[in-house]
Amino acid sequence: MALYIPDEKLAEIRNAGDIVDVISARVFLKKAGKDFAGLCPFHAEKTPSFTVSPEKQIFHCFGCGAGGDVFTFLMKYEGISFPEAVEAVARQYGVVMPSADMSDRQRQQASEREQLLGLNRKVMEFYRDMLLGDARGKPARTYLKKRAMAPKMIEDFGIGYAPPGWENLIGFLRKTRQSMVLAEKAGLIVPRKQKNGFYDRFRNRVIFPILDVTGQVVAFGGRVMDDGLPKYLNSPETPVYQKRMILYGMHAAKSACRSKGCVYIVEGYFDLLAMHQHGLNNSVATLGTSLTRDHIRRLSRAAGSGDKKAYLVFDSDEAGINAAKRTIGAFLEESMEACVILLPSGHDPDSFLFEHGPEAFDKIAAKAPNLFGFLINNAVSGHGLGIDGKVKVIAEIAPVLGEIRDSVARSVYIQHLAETIGVDESAVLQKVRQLRTNLSARSPAAPQPGLKQGADASEDKIQNNPRQADRMEMQVVAMMIQYPEMIAEVEEKQVLEQFEDARMKELGGEICRIMGRKAGTASDLLHNLGDENQRQLVASVMMEEACWAKQSCLLLLSQFIQCRQRRKNDLLQQIRAAEQNNDHELLVKLLSQKQKQAAGRR
Ligand code: UTP
Ligand code: MN
Repeated sequence: MALYIPDEKLAEIRNAGDIVDVISARVFLKKAGKDFAGLCPFHAEKTPSFTVSPEKQIFHCFGCGAGGDVFTFLMKYEGISFPEAVEAVARQYGVVMPSADMSDRQRQQASEREQLLGLNRKVMEFYRDMLLGDARGKPARTYLKKRAMAPKMIEDFGIGYAPPGWENLIGFLRKTRQSMVLAEKAGLIVPRKQKNGFYDRFRNRVIFPILDVTGQVVAFGGRVMDDGLPKYLNSPETPVYQKRMILYGMHAAKSACRSKGCVYIVEGYFDLLAMHQHGLNNSVATLGTSLTRDHIRRLSRAAGSGDKKAYLVFDSDEAGINAAKRTIGAFLEESMEACVILLPSGHDPDSFLFEHGPEAFDKIAAKAPNLFGFLINNAVSGHGLGIDGKVKVIAEIAPVLGEIRDSVARSVYIQHLAETIGVDESAVLQKVRQLRTNLSARSPAAPQPGLKQGADASEDKIQNNPRQADRMEMQVVAMMIQYPEMIAEVEEKQVLEQFEDARMKELGGEICRIMGRKAGTASDLLHNLGDENQRQLVASVMMEEACWAKQSCLLLLSQFIQCRQRRKNDLLQQIRAAEQNNDHELLVKLLSQKQKQAAGRR
């Protein structure tokens, strides 16, 4: 049903959505400078002339001239009308649309949402006036100055002040004829226990409005200015504020996250503000709660469709690190690499930046280990690498591995752990499989039983046939067939050159030729293969349901390269040792191995 969409609503939807996000769900895009490029979906082409600009939020094809905004794209691509395109974007980003066919209840919820947001905005302005335009705001102004907060930050983040006293906000609400029931629902006032009426939730606190990604005021946080407790008071959950969804600072960080392709995740209000004040404006804060899958999904969207990275910034506090373990799977599924920045003890981002400056922070960030490596190191430094220690390390990390749903990523990680602590891969595998069995036994209605069975089956194959072909080489080949868009990456990184199994290498070469350069399909490949074994392998890979995230593909390639590099270094060391020991027999054997490696690289 056609319906009129008010301009403000349209702007809200356009703001909430992201064109790169929407298009990359339909067209494979690669980062090209500031923009993204891909093959135009509107005309046949071999070289990408279809460009998407995150900055301008438009697309344009230099080949066929098609172009427009996110709505135009959807209309053209999906063959739908303008209102339908608007609705699709609104739905994807959770913007509530007034719609003719909404039920009364839905309509009521939508309008309640609007009302809450409207009230919150007025209240934000009230608190801001108290801070900046009222004599009562002096202690808060002094406090913010003491914390070195720049006036621009106060303005950009709408910071305010709730003066002491039980009915300041209530007075304002009365004067402006707001509904007390609504204000209670918004968590701004609290019903009195003994008698009728309400009192202000926030009293004598510096106020931080919490905005959602579209810039709507959804909640507030308030800090005491002395050692009073609690240090921070936050709005309760309301129909417009769900903690598992909202990240503080997201609104201000969104475009920087996109242009830099990475995001810093800090814990506190002042940490977030210090990051932005020091130019690290691709930062958000979890506000002391743990990072959820929904948060990660939103960050991943914000960071665009290229390679993207999240830095978890911790002060050396155990609790945060422990909570981070559970996020590995979510980061993988959202195609985000996760790294860890551990600040020197005694510092949080706020104190660190004001003492050492953003360059020092960048230096730490540049060396940030990835989350999985960090967790291994953390476990190793806790338990040591004695026999007992290794058992404990595996026990600590295995549950993390067990929760990774992507079977490829899981096996790459298992391999990585085994190599890092020097144990047999099958030992780790066994432990993880045991945990996963328990996991599915505990929850008979496991979400993806099919996926899991498949994963276990492939692990069996791995264990029974470790040498049949180098397993990673097989994974790379499978990936190339399932994700032809990765072929260019394989060629660029010269991955095939490092293959040791000649048949796999030959097959990889055919895939590059037929599916890469000639842009053929997997069936074209099948018809071109003379070798029965190769045909079987390709057919079986084609039958598999591929469900890798792009991040897993990239991970597989980089792990493969690292693994080969390690093997090469190991061999060189052995050769050197054999030379020193004058062990001729061994030396001859090692040298012939080296020759084989080198032959692979020709
Ligand atoms: P911290 O105790 O580390 O405080 O809490 P902080 O952010 O460094 O604050 P300053 O620098 O002392 O002002 C980290 C975050 O945890 C939440 C807040 O979001 C805080 O920023 N928190 C903390 C609460 O919600 N309530 C509290 O009582 C304390
Ligand atoms: Mn602090």
